[in-house]
Amino acid sequence: MAMVCLSDFEAYAKKYLPKIAWDFFAAGADDCSTRDENILAYKRIRFRPRMLRDVSMMDIRTKLLETEISFPVGIAPTGFHQLAWPDGEKSTARAAKAMNTCYIASTYSTCTLEDISAAAPGGLRWFQLYIHRNRAVSQQLVQRAEALGFQGLVLTADLPYTGKRRDDVRNGFRLPPHMKLKNLEGAFEVCKMSPSFHSLLDPSVTWNDIYWLRSLTHLPIIIKGILTKEDAELAVRHGVQGIIVSNHGGRQLDGGPATIDALVEVAEAVQGRVEVYLDGGIRKGSDVLKALALGAKCVFIGRPALWGLAYKGEEGLQDVLRILQDEFRLSMALAGCARVSEIGRHLVQFSKL
Ligand code: FNR
Repeated sequence: MAMVCLSDFEAYAKKYLPKIAWDFFAAGADDCSTRDENILAYKRIRFRPRMLRDVSMMDIRTKLLETEISFPVGIAPTGFHQLAWPDGEKSTARAAKAMNTCYIASTYSTCTLEDISAAAPGGLRWFQLYIHRNRAVSQQLVQRAEALGFQGLVLTADLPYTGKRRDDVRNGFRLPPHMKLKNLEGAFEVCKMSPSFHSLLDPSVTWNDIYWLRSLTHLPIIIKGILTKEDAELAVRHGVQGIIVSNHGGRQLDGGPATIDALVEVAEAVQGRVEVYLDGGIRKGSDVLKALALGAKCVFIGRPALWGLAYKGEEGLQDVLRILQDEFRLSMALAGCARVSEIGRHLVQFSKL
């Protein structure tokens, strides 16, 4: 089967993954309207391409908080990579390093942070944190990540409780017994995905906890899950270094905006004071170009990375990234941009459709 675009990897993963794993990866909350809207919203945005602008030498590199990456696409934090490929997050780390981009490792990884670091020494990695009721556990995780050379701390703000994902309820989803939430092993008696596990997350987290995190680490703090100008302003005022506009791939509150729509109001509110990123619904290089035109410094992919892993582990994920990279370069050139810095709001318009 020729793998030409990201949908080919999706079709492969759907065909070959066990149903319970496919359903877990694909799940959105409730009716899945926000999950689907994340993708549909890109179709309402049209380019205003410019011509005759010498695109013979293309430079698609960018910087994430001063660190150069090969193109503006990184890997969003997702849990349980061993459900997709036996080597799990180790393969993800290797693929991200090979493609010279950023991998955000989830609190819910099925490999230890130590194994992830050792698998791809020197790769650019951020650590994603869910704050647990037992704050000592979260503190240890943050400090472990910093000691291991992770270069950013991503606080996920949109999961005080887990959204209702119907297929997971129907399937009675839980991790197979041989897979563990490796970074939480020993921290709790219940170290598998179950309703009781999620009740260990702390729903009382507030903006003040950013100051608590600040007291624990020198790492830049990036807040993930922001969808409004009000929260973007609060994030800036609380001293974060970055904001990820995200609705958790439509897995939390159903009925919220597509992230590409929310990006517009967040980027306008932030006015360049901190870096703004986006995840949700990125499936083509032209989606990346639209997100950058509307103010994102970089985007992250969630499910497509899992499809790549399901196809061929680190090689499959590299294929996914390479396809996105090629598509992004081509879209840029056809829109008349030779460098990422030439991408701007002038490049897009919202269609009336
Ligand atoms: C996620 N996401 C997520 N986010 C997070 O902060 N920590 C996590 O552990 C997870 N786990 C997770 C598992 C799975 C299977 C999915 C699909 C998503 C959300 C993720 O970081 C990101 O916001 C979305 O996946 C982006 O949307 P796309 O690219 O999947 O459309």
